[in-house]
Formats: sequence, structure tokens, C-alpha cells
Amino acid sequence: MLFDDFYFKSLIRTVEDWPKPGISFRDITPIFSDPKGLRMVVDAYVHRYIDSDITHIACIDARGFLIASVLAYELHKPLVLVRKKGKLPGKTISQSYDLEYGSAELEIQEGAVHEGAQVLLFDDLIATGGTLVAAMTLLQQQGAEIQEVASIIDLPDLGGSAKIQEMDIPVFSLCAFE
Ligand code: PRP
Ligand code: ADE
Repeated sequence: MLFDDFYFKSLIRTVEDWPKPGISFRDITPIFSDPKGLRMVVDAYVHRYIDSDITHIACIDARGFLIASVLAYELHKPLVLVRKKGKLPGKTISQSYDLEYGSAELEIQEGAVHEGAQVLLFDDLIATGGTLVAAMTLLQQQGAEIQEVASIIDLPDLGGSAKIQEMDIPVFSLCAFE
């Protein structure tokens, strides 16, 4: 399906002062209420990665899971779950981080990726980049290489995408809100 920029942006709702005063929250829920919109978004990523040599798709709890799992299905790739602390059974490694409106801790299971895995890391939104950098650290500790970070939304003013690119990791986002 052809990517319609205007239609796509109409599917992102801005909620002011949520979850804290001063935050302009970019809500992706309307994408999932709109089958045409969801298909358009998924198709954009399928088109970009269908001929890539990624071996795994990793995604971040919770909103990152939504598109990445469909993408893993379409691209026939294993999906690696990077979860908030305390959700994964067995041996895990963890990394704490700060994000635009708080702090948290991420985990992956030991052995979730193998040495040399070529990972596409997906999340819905990049703000400060704290979340994605923590996920990158966990994957790299297991020997994975991050081929690219993909998101639906970039908030460039918060510096996260620039920080990731400075680490020599390409970033692909469908839209940006200044
Ligand atoms: C949101 C969003 C990103 C992160 C981006 O996650 O889904 O993961 O913030 O912020 P950062 O670039 O400043 O780190 P949140 O922790 O709110 O989790 P959710 O997906 O469970 O709603
Ligand atoms: N995660 C971090 N900052 C966010 C924002 N402004 N909107 C939605 N999710 C976010």
C-alpha cells in the first residue's frame, strides 16, 4: 500500500500534559483502530527491510511489540522481546535507564540472541533515546550487532535519534514531531 504522509500523521493523536505536565504525548492508538492505517505502517517497514540481511527483530515493551511482531511474521524473522523488569522468566540481564518522563529497567533473557546476530531494533517512539540505548546495550552485551533502529515517531528536539546516529547506528522513523 502506498504511504500517504498526511493520512498517516492524522493517525497520531497529541495529548498535552500527559502523563506529566509539560509532556506532549504522541498517542499511536488510532493507528491500531484503523486497519488501513495499520497496513500502511506495516507495509512501509516490510518494503524497507524485505531485502535486508537482518537476522532478528528486537522490540521494546510494550508499544514496540505491536508493529514489530507483525513485521517479524511478514519477514519470517525471530522476534526478541526486550521487556520491562520482572516480566521474563529464567536468567536475564538488565539495564536501567531514564526516559522523557521517568526511569525504568529493561531486561532480555540470556541467549536471546547469538554472537553476530544482525538485529533490527524496533520501538514506537524515540524521545531522549534512553530506552533504545539501554536495549542496544543489552543486545550488544550478548554479541549482537544493531543494523538499524526503527521507530514510528522521532522527537528530534529531545536528541535521542542524534545520539544513536552518533554511535554509528542508522535510524529510520516514519515521521518526526518538532
Ligand atoms: C515510551 C516509548 C519508548 C520510550 C521513548 O515507553 O514507547 O519506549 O517511551 O522514550 P525515551 O526515548 O525518552 O527513552 P514507555 O516506557 O512509556 O512504555 P510503554 O511502551 O509500555 O507505554
Ligand atoms: N515516550 C517518551 N516520550 C513520549 C511522548 N512524548 N509521547 C509518547 N511516548 C513517549
